[in-house]
Amino acid sequence: MREAPIGVFDSGVGGLSVLAEIQHLLPNETLMYVADCGNVPYGEKTPAFIQQRCSVMADFFQQQGAKALVLACNTATVAGVADLRRDYRDWPIVGMEPAVKPAAAATRSGVVGVLATTGTLQSAKFAALLDRFATDVKVITQPCPGLVELIENGDLHSAELRQLLAGYVEPLLAAGADTLILGCTHYPFLKPMLRQMIPADISLIDTGAAVARQLQRLLAERELLAAGPAREAQFWTSADPLHFRNILPILWNTSGVVRSFNR
Ligand code: DGL
Repeated sequence: MREAPIGVFDSGVGGLSVLAEIQHLLPNETLMYVADCGNVPYGEKTPAFIQQRCSVMADFFQQQGAKALVLACNTATVAGVADLRRDYRDWPIVGMEPAVKPAAAATRSGVVGVLATTGTLQSAKFAALLDRFATDVKVITQPCPGLVELIENGDLHSAELRQLLAGYVEPLLAAGADTLILGCTHYPFLKPMLRQMIPADISLIDTGAAVARQLQRLLAERELLAAGPAREAQFWTSADPLHFRNILPILWNTSGVVRSFNR
């Protein structure tokens, strides 16, 4: 069981930013990744639809013999993680949510901006997160429709992307935010562009590394950490595998087999 793979999924390529953190922290682990690119973006879908996709992914990874599941997607987590934990009681499941707590601790101006999907920002789970950790700071939320679609096309540099991103970020800076939460797993791929766009003293906070550490904790508790060596990562996509194969080298630094996911 220790050498069994870890299942990771996202609506698309965004979760690769989390997968990289997992591989960095846990290099002995064998990784499997499903990109639900046929249904991206999740950010504009109903919670019921996303819950159903979460359960398809969980069933798939159970069949693959995965020893743990990672929802490398904030939008899927707010909609689906509670149901998954109820339905798969003894399975280590790691979800993720925008890093409100560390951002509230880090801000000096007392203003935090959150970039995330509409689905995440409208969820009850996100409202609860603000109630719990953001009572002493001002939090400004910014849904970012369109960013995910461009990143899904492997676009990390175009003028169109820059203009869209600037339109989302500039009002947050104008309102005094000194800390920006990247509350969607696609957005860490925009860090190089963001860094050119914003002053150096603005902090960018994402949760990929924290997710990897939480996964490590859960596996260690159950004595499930692999001794290695890891087998090659495997990828599935619910859209065109050829497209995914072309994008993969832009967002992921090692090789992997890509297959079609038809569920
Ligand atoms: N990457 C996802 C997240 O972390 C969702 C992007 C989308 O499909 O809208 O929220």
